[in-house]
Amino acid sequence: SASDLAAEKLLAATTAVGWVRDGMRVGLGTGSTAAPFITLLGQRVREGGLRIEATATSRASEELARQVGIPLLEPRRGLRFDLTVDGADELDAQLRLIKGGGGALLREKIIATASDYLLIVADSTKAVGQLGRFPLPLEVVPFALPWVIDAVANLGGAPVLRMNKQNPLEPAQSDQGNLLVDCHFQQISDPDSLAAQLIVIPGIVEHGLFLGLARAAVVAQGGQAQVWRP
Ligand code: A5P
Repeated sequence: SASDLAAEKLLAATTAVGWVRDGMRVGLGTGSTAAPFITLLGQRVREGGLRIEATATSRASEELARQVGIPLLEPRRGLRFDLTVDGADELDAQLRLIKGGGGALLREKIIATASDYLLIVADSTKAVGQLGRFPLPLEVVPFALPWVIDAVANLGGAPVLRMNKQNPLEPAQSDQGNLLVDCHFQQISDPDSLAAQLIVIPGIVEHGLFLGLARAAVVAQGGQAQVWRP
């Protein structure tokens, strides 16, 4: 049920907060599992005297971090994160991920790549044998949209332009002002090869395949939090 899922997300988030040490620079993920992590982390900053600095992977997470009192860092040269905690839409046993269901895949990949350690927090529904049932999100430059749709259709991805949840007549916009295209591959048997084919299509700024980035995942199932490593 929805409340079981919420409980799993909270358990994963609570476990992940235990990974944060004094003095760390922390990357803050986006979504309904990263959000309770940010809230609990803020509580430790305010009440526990935990000293950290953080950068968020979306405007929404930045706003939440500000509300709960987490000091924020702007992007700058040389900035690295000791630990980034983020959600995922799907993860397999090798900790390959589909991300971007919340539309934040570009900043998420930027922060993940600038991190020494990416920890994924997930409820039990995210774990899959093979990636691809969750539609793979792409961030696309608006001018390129029709040709990106053609190219992804040729790859068998059944692309669908994501619409705005509040205003279904308008396309959804990323934090960068780009479009989001959800690609229904159903089964992604070779994620590395697909990622290589997507990233050379002009106008695709980023795709939601996160390969070789996650170092561990906290997967909550019922009352148990399991730590997975690739
Ligand atoms: C945001 O763009 C996504 O990558 C999220 O990390 C992903 O959608 C997982 O979100 P939930 O934790 O809300 O399922």
